Amino acid sequence: MKWTLIGVGHIGTAILEGWIRTGHRAEDVYISVSTREKEDSLQEKYGVSILEEASQLADCDLILFAVKPQDLPQIAANYAPYISNSSLIVSIAAGIDLSSLRLMLGKTGSSADEYPILRVLPNLPSKVGAGVSVMVANEHVSQDQLDIAKSIFLNLGMVMELPEENFAAVTALSGSGPAFVAVFIEALADAAVYAGMHSEAANTLAAQTLLGTAKLLLESKTPPAILKNQVCTAAGTSIYGIRALEKSGFRASVFDAVIAASERTEALAREAADNII
Ligand SMILES: NC(=O)c1ccc[n+]([C@@H]2O[C@H](COP(=O)([O-])OP(=O)(O)OC[C@H]3O[C@@H](n4cnc5c(N)ncnc54)[C@H](OP(=O)(O)O)[C@@H]3O)[C@@H](O)[C@H]2O)c1
Repeated sequence: MKWTLIGVGHIGTAILEGWIRTGHRAEDVYISVSTREKEDSLQEKYGVSILEEASQLADCDLILFAVKPQDLPQIAANYAPYISNSSLIVSIAAGIDLSSLRLMLGKTGSSADEYPILRVLPNLPSKVGAGVSVMVANEHVSQDQLDIAKSIFLNLGMVMELPEENFAAVTALSGSGPAFVAVFIEALADAAVYAGMHSEAANTLAAQTLLGTAKLLLESKTPPAILKNQVCTAAGTSIYGIRALEKSGFRASVFDAVIAASERTEALAREAADNII
């Protein structure tokens, strides 16, 4: 399969490295970034092909847009005339929904020639193969196309399909979540430093505690409340700590963070829809 990756930044690099790591041929991927100089250095580093001309898109089974949401309208409009209706279009741009993607690719009104489009939201832990990619397809995506796209994103970690109405919450939870979790890890470690531990040991201990707790929850399929109860023995240290968290409104802060990020996602989606060329 030949496919094109437009944008090789944080997530694009994870996608490309995942493809190569799992034994696929690097030269089957055409890449496009903002400058020829960067394209040459990516070719030298990974052995990928460079998208020399937009007309090469016609040979690709899948075209994956991994550029910033604000750059997508212009870039999609530039490439759309060269994309065949049988190619699967994949976008990972946060906040840009399937109907906006269709319009950005020049499909206005009702048309028999629609693109199969897949919207995917990966997250930053994809860089180490521990990400989660949530996807939703339009009705023109075939099962084979979905399976091919899944095989690309499975290289980055877990893949889930969810309805599009969940995507603002998904963006806030798994998309922005790594930032919230990093702040929590930092705070845990800082507290241990305050108590006399060296920061390197504290950071490792805090991150491994998060990782281990998450792994235990996922593998045992235990609800978090049960695990919390297992750690909190009667009048023990943990329940004293939980009381302090509750007193300072920890849960309410986490609610607010996820809701704020979700509302921001919806606002950005409205702005993106207004900027379609
Ligand atoms: N980062 C995350 O945690 C995360 C999570 C979920 C979804 N996403 C989504 O993933 C997308 C990419 O995010 P990112 O963090 O990987 O961004 P990024 O690191 O800024 O990468 C953007 C890429 O787009 C390229 N680009 C810019 N203009 C271009 C053009 N005209 N033609 C071709 N390529 C062009 C850039 O090229 P240069 O390398 O030459 O500058 C760069 O490789 C965004 O839409 C974002 O919403 C990101």
